[in-house]
Amino acid sequence: MSNDFIKTAVIGHPISHSKSPLIHRYWLEKHGLSGSYNAIDVPVDNLKQGVADIIKDGFSGFNVTIPHKISIMDICDEIDDLATAIGAVNTVTIKNGKLYGTNTDGFGFVENIKRSAADFDFKEGKAVVLGAGGAANAVIYALLQEGVPEIFIANRTKEKAQKLTAFNPEKIKAIDWALRNDVLEHANLIINTTSLGMAGHPPLDISLRAAPAHVLVTDIIYAPLITDLLKQAKISKLRTVTGIGMLLHQARPGFKLWNGVLPEVTEELEQLVLT
Ligand code: ATR
Repeated sequence: MSNDFIKTAVIGHPISHSKSPLIHRYWLEKHGLSGSYNAIDVPVDNLKQGVADIIKDGFSGFNVTIPHKISIMDICDEIDDLATAIGAVNTVTIKNGKLYGTNTDGFGFVENIKRSAADFDFKEGKAVVLGAGGAANAVIYALLQEGVPEIFIANRTKEKAQKLTAFNPEKIKAIDWALRNDVLEHANLIINTTSLGMAGHPPLDISLRAAPAHVLVTDIIYAPLITDLLKQAKISKLRTVTGIGMLLHQARPGFKLWNGVLPEVTEELEQLVLT
């Protein structure tokens, strides 16, 4: 146990809804560590000053959320290969006043599936990714790292899906949004990365009828926990993984970087975050 008081935070705008303080404070207490984790509201045009203040205040690191995940890259002194490939930073470590950026979203996505569906094999077949926004980048990069043989991306704005094929043009195909139901045939994994189905957003209009019986269906949305997509999958007796685990697991590497302990996701923590 260390006696050093470790100051950490999440920056974003808006930030009051963030679950990160709950998660990190749970782990700090669980491990008997002396430290703090605050939500700091940093408006779009105040990123440079906001980060300068954090350095001055002696923080060890911070998480980065909307709208700063891309713009923080210009302020970091070093960005690792992973975050560079994904094109976004969500975790920053501060050492001697210098900022080191990485991205743990892909880790969170993969860990969630591995822990929730232990016998699932990424290599077994194609993945269908719905959406090509910020969250899709990390998911698609992680899928390639896990050896997924083929990835189909269906997005309303097809050009954005096409752009993501650059990760590996031989393995990734951009699909018209209108064809999203048809590409589910032979899918091993179906992932919703769009905002459709999230509380306050329109529903995701999709039919899982063509999906094979062994497919795993997952949503990165966790509010509601059981989205309409997951409900439909359950009715069709397909395997499902909810999005809450991605949020919890993506937080683990940052905690380790700052506090020296890789924390675990527990049932108790999951319930705490969901209530
Ligand atoms: P994030 O960074 O969280 O991924 P985002 O970049 O705004 O958020 O992406 C939201 C995703 O939801 C995008 O894929 C978006 O499609 P477009 O690229 O065409 O904007 C998708 N999305 C949002 N509303 C949609 C709708 N009504 N129909 C289809 N797709 C939608």
